Amino acid sequence: MDVLSPALENAAGDTQSRPRYGVILLPQNLTLPIPLEETRPTELEIGFGNGEYTVKYARAHPETMIFGVEVSPACVLRCARRAAGLDNLKILRADARLMMRELFGEGALDRVTMNFPCPWPKRRHAHRRVTARDFADSLAVVLKRGGVFELVTDDEPYALEAKERLGAHPALTLNRFEINPVRPVTTKYERKWLAEGKNICRLTFIRTGDIPAPARRAWGLSQEESFPMHIRTERPATLGLLESLNGVSGQDGEARWAFGRCYVSPGEDALLLEVFSVDDEFEQRYYIRVSGRGGGGLVQMDRTANAFLTPSVRGALRDVASRLSPQEAQA
Ligand SMILES: C[S@@+](CC[C@H](N)C(=O)[O-])C[C@H]1O[C@@H](n2cnc3c(N)ncnc32)[C@H](O)[C@@H]1O
Repeated sequence: MDVLSPALENAAGDTQSRPRYGVILLPQNLTLPIPLEETRPTELEIGFGNGEYTVKYARAHPETMIFGVEVSPACVLRCARRAAGLDNLKILRADARLMMRELFGEGALDRVTMNFPCPWPKRRHAHRRVTARDFADSLAVVLKRGGVFELVTDDEPYALEAKERLGAHPALTLNRFEINPVRPVTTKYERKWLAEGKNICRLTFIRTGDIPAPARRAWGLSQEESFPMHIRTERPATLGLLESLNGVSGQDGEARWAFGRCYVSPGEDALLLEVFSVDDEFEQRYYIRVSGRGGGGLVQMDRTANAFLTPSVRGALRDVASRLSPQEAQA
């Protein structure tokens, strides 16, 4: 599902009427890291689900700029509907595990909140937990010194794992571990579970120390430097060549991509190739545009691409380009 942007809606509708959606940030319009107003507290909520908590929280804190990152496009739309008219909440579709550090610069955030993350209890799914791998590193990078991370969960093993992993990080200190805290804003599941007599754990960490060198280098997805990323090729593409890529896939480490159907533009001056890209289970679907230029070709992200330039997206662009250039394609 594609995500509507308020700009698209306004272009089609009456600008005087009440907006039907809140602010959705689209990858192709973003400068990374996202520039922030230094005078305003800035917070992030990870995995906001239907956005009920997020929108109530944003209404209760008009002085704070709140960002919401959610991996499910359907949830982004649901939250955007609730957030109509709110100007201190910006939401976007991304995988927080991989993108938090790309989206926000060093020491950018005063607070990060995560309510009821998916616990992924099976061992083979453990890598999907938001707190897995280098999450503690990313958190330490994006939080200001004194900044807070609040994790609320109904899953005690998850709470204990987070306590151990995040608490062991040299820049983070566990400040509180509470059972059934009273929170001014609550989520639907929280109310249901509390009513059923289930325990809720809240862990509060503070960034207290210096940031050690993170284990994983940031991708550095600066869109300014690279968007629209384009690669010149020696030959233009033919429909036959791009159609023959349907079902072909590629891989570079954890970055994987697969090509799908090909479409011809109405003016027949460009071809659009459907691509599915995956970076450590973060899936993006978009189109690569291939056009002819002075005997050569131009391979680039289509303007409607709505994808971050993650390693798999760059890999797919280079893959297409290399098929049109006998020598190695140059970015
Ligand atoms: C159990 S739901 C909780 C939703 C909401 N926070 C609440 O309390 O009602 C977990 C949410 O986290 C989202 N999610 C899971 N992994 C994520 C990730 N890596 N980055 C961002 N969101 C993620 C899921 O799509 C889902 O909406």
